[in-house]
Amino acid sequence: MPRPRIRQHVNPLTRKFQQPIALPDWTQIYANLQQPLHLDIGCARGRFTLAIAQAQPEMNFLGLEIREALVTEANDCRDRKKLTNLHYLFCNANVDLKRILRSLPSGVVQWVSIQFPDPWFKKRHTKRRVVQPELVQALADELPSGATIFLQSDVEAVALEMTTLFAEHPRFSLTHSPPWLPENPLPVPTERELATFAKGGAVYRSRFEVRGKSC
Ligand SMILES: C[S@@+](CC[C@H](N)C(=O)[O-])C[C@H]1O[C@@H](n2cnc3c(N)ncnc32)[C@H](O)[C@@H]1O
Repeated sequence: MPRPRIRQHVNPLTRKFQQPIALPDWTQIYANLQQPLHLDIGCARGRFTLAIAQAQPEMNFLGLEIREALVTEANDCRDRKKLTNLHYLFCNANVDLKRILRSLPSGVVQWVSIQFPDPWFKKRHTKRRVVQPELVQALADELPSGATIFLQSDVEAVALEMTTLFAEHPRFSLTHSPPWLPENPLPVPTERELATFAKGGAVYRSRFEVRGKSC
């Protein structure tokens, strides 16, 4: 069977991607739904989550991705490896994130990574970037205190924009001296990270801890 054509970019603002997804029954997906969960927003082919889920069986991993064909392939790969701590969900994070977080058991989401998001360089396209004030607010509303947010990009302006949006929110506190985190705290690099280093490029990273909610 020929593989379906996979578009390089999709515009998350088109009508097609505004339809909320049906949420899965998580008890049918994870062997232990009460384990801490790492959410990777914009996981593409999911190679990072596939590797880290094998290295850290004591955690669950959930990759969100707007290109459906990639999600289908990634879940097939997960099934072939018989992993019960990993799932990929086709969704528009800008539409579905809050409902996804609310559907998971309270307090389980301990890590959120947003790694090398599409930069959408043209000024008129910046609204297509995944890190928008509403996405930051959804994380602020739903994450437990002590959770980690990890951001990285090879485009300094994009890294700065995401970092500023989180830094300006009272629920997030930068865990390192500004501007950038010197090392990746995760044991596995993403595909984009490897490609950036192969070209000799720089990576701009930041890390936040979620503060307790004030009354
Ligand atoms: C440049 S790729 C980076 C992939 C991976 N994180 C890495 O570092 O190798 C960004 C991914 O985010 C996905 N994406 C963009 N906007 C999204 C959205 N609103 N919701 C979910 N995924 C999105 C894109 O389809 C793409 O696969």
